[in-house]
Amino acid sequence: MKDARNEKEETAGGNAAGVNRTEGSAGRAVWKAGAITGPVPPALVTCAENGRVNVITVAWTGILCSKPPITYISVRPERFSHGIIDRTGEFVINFPNDAIARQTDLCGMLSGRKVDKIEKCGFHLLPGSEVSVPVIAECPLSVECRVIERKDLGSHTLFMAEIVATQADERYVDEKGKLVLRKAGMLAYLHGEYFATGRKCGRFGFSVAKKGKK
Ligand SMILES: Cc1cc2nc3c(=O)[nH]c(=O)nc-3n(C[C@H](O)[C@H](O)[C@H](O)COP(=O)(O)O)c2cc1C
Repeated sequence: MKDARNEKEETAGGNAAGVNRTEGSAGRAVWKAGAITGPVPPALVTCAENGRVNVITVAWTGILCSKPPITYISVRPERFSHGIIDRTGEFVINFPNDAIARQTDLCGMLSGRKVDKIEKCGFHLLPGSEVSVPVIAECPLSVECRVIERKDLGSHTLFMAEIVATQADERYVDEKGKLVLRKAGMLAYLHGEYFATGRKCGRFGFSVAKKGKK
């Protein structure tokens, strides 16, 4: 549990409790260095070695480049998953929705060293199309990754990876073949709390589009 607490301090914004707080201009709270950010996806990252599949919850993830498509995850060396990813060079980032919020949290509380989290969560696995790591069927979206670079940054190792394939639940692909996750209830993680996305307040470019078009 100690590891999980460490992560909470980072991802929940330990600074918000007053640590490192300094003087700011009127109406602004200011903190010195600290790992605080806006909403991030609490991703379920699968990895596999010698036929054994593990899953770790990771909040430190995102896109680094569109062409070629490059993503990253940052993982602490003490995680069971760290060694597996380091040795195999492959992982899948599975993006969960609100239906599996509890399992998403659980995979960040327990270690694969002691528990088979796939079994405990009741997840169903499907084969990766380009990597030998399976995807989680319960997740609406899964991104298959191959590591291209790793860097020890301090508390975490950055695994930079090429996205070699993407899989989605057919229910979220419309008749034109477009991925529509609007109603999937995708999870966002914000300072220690999970939220389901759903309230649309615009779309890409709507600020310059014809009036009224959202
Ligand atoms: C919401 C959430 C986000 C997390 N983000 C990260 C992260 O970005 N990097 C990391 O190393 N651990 C992160 N953790 C902690 C790991 O998921 C946790 O230590 C897990 O038990 C490690 O599993 P493993 O030992 O099977 O690899 C997070 C936990 C939660 C609940």
